[in-house]
Amino acid sequence: MIEVKDIKFAYTKEDIALRGVSFNIPDDSWVSIIGHNGSGKSTISKLLINLISAQKGEIIVDGVTLSEATAPEIRKNIGIVFQNPDNQFVGVDVEHDIAFGLENLQIDHDSMHKLVSEYAEKVSMLDKLKREPHTLSGGEKQRVAIAGILALNQKYIILDEATSMLDPEGTEDVVNLIKTLKTKYHKTIITITHDLNLAALSDNVIVLREGKKIAEGKPMEVFADKKMLDSSNLELPFDLDFYDMCNNSSLNGDKELMDAIWEYHLKK
Ligand SMILES: Nc1ncnc2c1ncn2[C@@H]1O[C@H](COP(=O)(O)OP(=O)(O)OP(=O)(O)O)[C@@H](O)[C@H]1O
Ligand SMILES: [Mg+2]
Repeated sequence: MIEVKDIKFAYTKEDIALRGVSFNIPDDSWVSIIGHNGSGKSTISKLLINLISAQKGEIIVDGVTLSEATAPEIRKNIGIVFQNPDNQFVGVDVEHDIAFGLENLQIDHDSMHKLVSEYAEKVSMLDKLKREPHTLSGGEKQRVAIAGILALNQKYIILDEATSMLDPEGTEDVVNLIKTLKTKYHKTIITITHDLNLAALSDNVIVLREGKKIAEGKPMEVFADKKMLDSSNLELPFDLDFYDMCNNSSLNGDKELMDAIWEYHLKK
């Protein structure tokens, strides 16, 4: 479990990114952190891997408090796909890029080759293994970054806007991957996203606004608070809006119908 306790972080005196945020990420769960631009989402992901360290509060991963001393061990369990895919390419081509993290783990050549192909296939990039990074589209870069992280088989996986450049098909591939990782491989997933359709599929949602957590809970409950979403500039997709409309009408009493509409959204 990841425990975030009253974290405060300011980049400079003026740039205060987090103003006391607490939450837990239970094992085997998929949690989405949502919020408007600049609300502090990516700052949280950087804190979780100790790229920056909080001025106040603490982060505890599986019972160990994150610090300069414990960070190297904790980092082994946390994989992150950063928001900007251009900043994370390290290999000369797709194959080397997916293999990069594995090389650090000193896996033998044959197993590595197998893993690279396996994960490239999962993100539909198997036919582009020899392509140079600068020749890829934004969405293809995101897929490669996702494959590279998933191949490492870490316990916690953070995806920071990792589907923002993907088309609906690409997003669906990633959603299916997340579901498999969670149910079959018991991974704990944190998605940072503007996409409420994606957030709706997760177990829990945390909403940030101006460096504060303003809501937390099951997507169905959090999304029912339209005022809160409006105040955070978060817009419900049409079918979730429809769900919300029914929820606020006399249909609300019909639990079966409401559940059916929600299920419809999840299966779509
Ligand atoms: N390197 C930095 N130096 C100074 N201020 C920063 C830096 N990075 C982020 N900030 C500020 O910290 C706040 C939170 O930024 P953060 O990147 O965490 O937001 P975010 O929720 O990820 O936004 P987005 O949805 O646009 O990715 C913003 O006000 C931002 O301007
Ligand atoms: Mg961000």
